[in-house]
Amino acid sequence: MSTEVPVLNGRPNGQQNHDPHHIESELAKLSLSSKTIHSDDFLNIGHDVAPPLHVSTTFRYSNNPDALLPAADREPSVPYDRHVYSRATAPNTTRLEAILSNILKGPSLTYASGLSAFHAALVFLNPKHISVGGGYHGCHGVIDIHQKLTGLKKLDLNCPAEELEAGDVVHVETPVNPYGTAFNIKAFAEKAHSRGAYLIVDATFAPPPLQDPFLWGADLVMHSATKYIGGHSDMLCGVLTVNPTRVKEGWVKKLEEERVYLGNVAGSLEGWLGIRSVRTIELRVERQSSNATKLVAWLDAALHPEEASSRGHAPIVSAGDSKIVQAVLEEITHASLQKGDIKDGWLLRQMPNGYGPVFAISMKEEISARRLPSKLALFHHATSLGGVESLIEWRTMSDATVHRRLLRISVGIEGWEDLRDDLLQGFKTLADEQAVLKIEV
Ligand SMILES: Cc1ncc(COP(=O)(O)O)c(C=O)c1O
Repeated sequence: MSTEVPVLNGRPNGQQNHDPHHIESELAKLSLSSKTIHSDDFLNIGHDVAPPLHVSTTFRYSNNPDALLPAADREPSVPYDRHVYSRATAPNTTRLEAILSNILKGPSLTYASGLSAFHAALVFLNPKHISVGGGYHGCHGVIDIHQKLTGLKKLDLNCPAEELEAGDVVHVETPVNPYGTAFNIKAFAEKAHSRGAYLIVDATFAPPPLQDPFLWGADLVMHSATKYIGGHSDMLCGVLTVNPTRVKEGWVKKLEEERVYLGNVAGSLEGWLGIRSVRTIELRVERQSSNATKLVAWLDAALHPEEASSRGHAPIVSAGDSKIVQAVLEEITHASLQKGDIKDGWLLRQMPNGYGPVFAISMKEEISARRLPSKLALFHHATSLGGVESLIEWRTMSDATVHRRLLRISVGIEGWEDLRDDLLQGFKTLADEQAVLKIEV
């Protein structure tokens, strides 16, 4: 019988199988969930099944004087097990990065937050122009800082290609915050590359298994890992993943080097929470995305019953429920409602496994948007998204750029029928209150 330890297994005696090519090729054969659970096995050098939390900021050098490698003789990226100082690398974040690099399909670096990852991307690419749409207002705050520091100029997301220069950035957030609608990544990649510009995709709203921006030409992919990678509303973290074709141009090395001096690393607790969380990303995200799509289809069928019945397979909504929804709701936005783009094929190809767990609704009256969260039992009224619990936010509470009738909904893993019933009773209470108010007036 062979005593050889299977290649992915960490060795309790502390030795690791460090042949990265062998590990990579073994991992490549696995499914997404298997990768989330086993991509860091080779770093598991103790007896623990669950990863230990390492809190040390500094790490002992070798006791063997012959093995000491002075900084000037070292590559900036240390091997996985030779940590020096936690502003460079540390065990928990390194282990999380090993998993993320596999599931996001490119070398991945973690940062203190999504915004610090975006800041690091702009520091690294240092463009003269950035072509950008609406999207998360915080990213515009980061762009404003770069405008102050470097004179960076904003261009519209749909600007003519001729306005872009070599080295510029096209930044596409898809699906986009807060609406949950999607953009065609391939079209923006072609435009950027036709001018020698780079495409950054903020894929926070469509983590694996929903979308792979590298398939469609992204150069850098960013995630607010605070959302679906964390998944439990308890960790702040960001990720940049480099298109593997850019590795030989030194992108990963340079980003690692710059992160040491920006000092915006994720903490060890966040690394540990990230590993715990990312193990279940496929289960959570599939469920959340399918819950959202069912809720959106139900709301849409209630709001537009004639169109829904002409489509055939729309959910059945009673006339009474439809009347309640129509009394208070004006509009729903979500990628699953982009019927033309689904029919054209690009949306189905780019989001083959679901349209994302976030959508937005616009109420007829501002007062309904302000009051709806207080009528719901199963949705927390809070900002952020991506956690296992459903959230609703009167978006104007945290984003000054949106209209005041807008609510953003981040769907959790609860039973979707419970969420539907909760929304319906909330709408009914609002409709009843409005009727009373109108009579009183
Ligand atoms: C699309 C998107 N990108 C980036 C961020 C920023 O992430 P963080 O809050 O982790 O800095 C957010 C936060 O909501 C977001 O929704």
